[in-house]
This record gives sequence, structure tokens and C-alpha cells, in this order.
Amino acid sequence: MTTAEDDRAARLNWPGVIEAYRKYLPVPKEAEVVTLREGGTPLYYASRLSKLKGSDVFLKFEGANPTGSFKDRGMTVAMTMAKQSGAKAVVCASTGNTSAASAAYAARAQLRSIVLIPSGYIALGKLAQALIYGAKVVQIKGNFDRALEIVRELGETGLVTVVNSINPYRIEGQKTGAFEIVDALGFAPTHHFIPVGNAGNISAYWKGYNEYFADGRCSTLPKMMGFQAEGAAPIVDGKIVHFPETVATAIRIGNPASWKGALLAASESDGAIGAVSDKEILYAYTYLAREESIFCEPASAASVAGLMKTTVPLGATVVCVLTGHGLKDPDTAITQIEVPAAVEATLEAISKEVGI
Ligand code: F0G
Repeated sequence: MTTAEDDRAARLNWPGVIEAYRKYLPVPKEAEVVTLREGGTPLYYASRLSKLKGSDVFLKFEGANPTGSFKDRGMTVAMTMAKQSGAKAVVCASTGNTSAASAAYAARAQLRSIVLIPSGYIALGKLAQALIYGAKVVQIKGNFDRALEIVRELGETGLVTVVNSINPYRIEGQKTGAFEIVDALGFAPTHHFIPVGNAGNISAYWKGYNEYFADGRCSTLPKMMGFQAEGAAPIVDGKIVHFPETVATAIRIGNPASWKGALLAASESDGAIGAVSDKEILYAYTYLAREESIFCEPASAASVAGLMKTTVPLGATVVCVLTGHGLKDPDTAITQIEVPAAVEATLEAISKEVGI
């Protein structure tokens, strides 16, 4: 087969991350796999960003997953294992994307899904997803960190299975993002930029790269470069942020569950955890749409905002993970641009409006 035919066959037959990477995942052979054929997301070469940074910059677009974020990778494993263990209900706290993924995969598995979200602070698309997939949505008068505390307590009752990233199966699934990057490039990047909220994903990617390295699939490891939003940067500040604030609501988290995992990834890889301002996030967000034709959500742009203010060696191979789709949060998009007023429906008025 030609390479093009190979690619086509791979796309048509993409089975989801459990089947694609079964060897690396703790899913028993007899388990009924709960999948929406997540993963297999594109790794785009970002030509303008590459020129800007004097290096090869690639964008891993996780918005292409079935529910529009990277959470699907973890949820397929967590939900498969929950179903396998006989669970009847799953619960999560969420800034939005986990709730959307949990709701969708629970519907697939025919399990009850309960999601706790911070009232007023989740993007419209994510709320719509959780509702339409049929989750029991509870908006709490408190932030994500409080919601996660309650979810931990609910989990301790033994009546529900927690599907936040404190569930190790979530991390197992999410590490497949690193596998795909190495499979696509043929080697590991020198630098891996990623947004950090609850810090599960940076921990998962680091685990993935290390497993591939141990298995001889790559001979180097990337520096892990994690970025929090300035108003929600507990790891950078070295202390819990009690009232986190950022336009990037997905990472509006003041006490990350995988705090230690993020620090470990950064230190073991000789990388760093940094902070980016809302202004820098929104600049990268619009830049990605205009220059690289990728519409991601604000939190996702934190990785590229981080790259923009970091010096990388000439000739570096950089991967930035764009964690979620821009359509999740239409409100932020339309506050960035002046929405045009209606004009008369005449050729003359329209010609004048568009300047031709
Ligand atoms: N990007 C997006 C779009 C997210 O939704 C999240 C986390 C992150 C980045 C950060 O990943 O938490 O593994 O460090 N969203 C969670 C949620 C908290 O509830 O959807 P992390």
C-alpha cells in the first residue's frame, strides 16, 4: 500500500485508544470496551508559529475528540473499568469538559452520570453537552476545588465511582496522547507545552513518554512545559489559591489534585511550570484561529501562550497540546471581536460595508 492508502486505512479503522494501545493499558481482555473511538487526533505542523520560534512547532488538536476535548481518552478507560466492576453510577467534579465526557461515555455504557459544576463558571457548550447526554447536572455555589472535595466524599460512600483524574484509569487513557505524538513524529519532541489545571494531563503525558521510552519507541524525552493561568497558578505560586480567577474557566483551579505529578514531570524532565496572563491566553487564542486555522478554547491556548514567551533552542521540535475545541465556549470568542451590526439587505449597503 502507498503511504496515503495506509493513512486512509488507519483513519477509517481507528478503533479508539483502548484497542490502539491495549498493550500499554490495564484493561482486561474480557472487558466490554466503552468507546466513542476517541484519540487518533491530528498533529498539525504550525508553519507560522514555527517561523516565529525558529523551530518546528506542532499542534496536537484534542478538540477533534468525540466530545471535543482530551478528556475522552481518559474517560474510555475509566468508564470501561467502572462498567467492568459493576458500577451503576459515576460522578465527577468539573470545569466543564470532564462533565461532557463523563456524560457521553456514561450514556454509551448505560450508567448514571452525576456531575458537579461551579455555577456560572462553565462554558455554554460544555453545559449543553452534559445536559443533552443526559447527566444529572448539579450546579454548586462554589468553585471546582470545592466540588472535587465533595466528589471525593461521595466516592468514599462506595455508591458511585469517581471519574475525575484522581481515578488512575483516567491518567492511563490520557497518556495515549504522548504515544500518538511519538508515533506521528517518529521520535519524541524536545519540548512539550501543555495547559495545567488539575494537573492530571501533564502527569499523564509524562507517564506516556516514559513508557514509550522504556519500550524503545523513542530514544529521548521532552522537557515538560506546563502553563497555568496567572489568576489560578497555585503550583507556580507554591500555595493554594482560594479564589482562582481566569477567562480560561477550564483551568480555573486553585488546588490541583495532581500537584505533585506536575512538579515531578517538570523537574524530572528539566522542564518548568509557568504562568500566562489572560491577555496572553487571549492573544494566543486569536492568533491560533487567524494564523493556524485552529479554533481551540481559551484554556487550550495557554500552551501556545507559554511557548510565545519561552525561548526554545533553534531547531527544537515543539509540540503544544490544544486540549479542547473553541466551539465549547462561543461566548469568549464573540467577546474578542466586535460582532457586526445588521445592515440593509441591499447590494449597495453590503458593498459599502465590505469595501468593494
Ligand atoms: N484544557 C482544558 C480544555 C481542560 O478542560 C482542562 C481541564 C485542562 C486543560 C487542564 O487539564 O486538569 O489535567 O491539568 N479540565 C478539567 C475539567 C478540570 O473538569 O474539565 P488538567
